[in-house]
Amino acid sequence: MYQTILTTLDNGIFTITINRPDKMNALNRDVINEVGAAMDEAYTNDEIRGVIITGAGEKAFVAGADISEFIPLGAAEGAALAQRGRELVFDKVENCPKPVIAAVNGFALGGGCELAMACHMRVAAVNAKFGQPEVNLGLIPGYGGTQRLTRLVGKGKAMELILTADMIGADEAKLLGLVNHVVAPEELLTKATDILKKIQARTPVAIRRIIASVNEAANADPAGFDKEIVRFGECFGTEDMKEGAAAFLEKRKPVFKGK
Ligand code: COA
Repeated sequence: MYQTILTTLDNGIFTITINRPDKMNALNRDVINEVGAAMDEAYTNDEIRGVIITGAGEKAFVAGADISEFIPLGAAEGAALAQRGRELVFDKVENCPKPVIAAVNGFALGGGCELAMACHMRVAAVNAKFGQPEVNLGLIPGYGGTQRLTRLVGKGKAMELILTADMIGADEAKLLGLVNHVVAPEELLTKATDILKKIQARTPVAIRRIIASVNEAANADPAGFDKEIVRFGECFGTEDMKEGAAAFLEKRKPVFKGK
């Protein structure tokens, strides 16, 4: 069905693999459209409980936006390209009510680093490399990189990485808080799957509210504390919260229904 991505659904885990390995999985218009459509599936298909985004091949997660599409664009078209990507993919990934993990299997540069950062968590193979090299092209990051990198690693390091275009390895990315875990390449998908399985054992009524609230904190939403209280209260109105509390007191495992 898709031309530039592969998707699988296995035990509730939906894996989106960007599949242009001969072009380092660069994000062209088709990839943006198709990842956007796959994310729509992730939102609407109740069988999907978690999402992994990764790249095909051993070299690249995603080496950025497709530079070959850039030359003819003027100022308005450049802004429209970034806006379109934001709406179709990046905001949809960040606001997905189900957890989304980037399994970074190689170069995550430019839009690739930005895609990984839009995900809720990042697991990296030891050979992964991160960077925002747009400045080399006379550009700045346009898929949220100046904002999300600063939020994840702080102002000083984000300035340095974006201004110098330096690439960093997985271990340094972990030290900076850019990635959650670094594993051997062959363990990458297993690690991401293990995290999602752990989350899957919990109730979606809490999971989607946690994602929304943590996103609000990351986005410095001044109403974040108030919204947390509203969502905390909403959980009391669910069957699953009653079940979770009862199961704890009865010293048994909860049986959640997603209600
Ligand atoms: N857009 C379009 N094509 C890209 C691309 C991108 N972001 N990144 C890689 N490619 C293409 C190359 O043009 C090349 O195509 P070709 O075989 O038709 O010539 C192919 O992918 C392989 O890349 P190549 O550069 O030959 O591989 P490498 O191993 O020597 O270098 C990278 C790998 C990732 C370091 C290098 O490709 C690179 O720097 N890419 C651009 C990164 C970037 O600036 N991203 C930000 C974009 S805003």
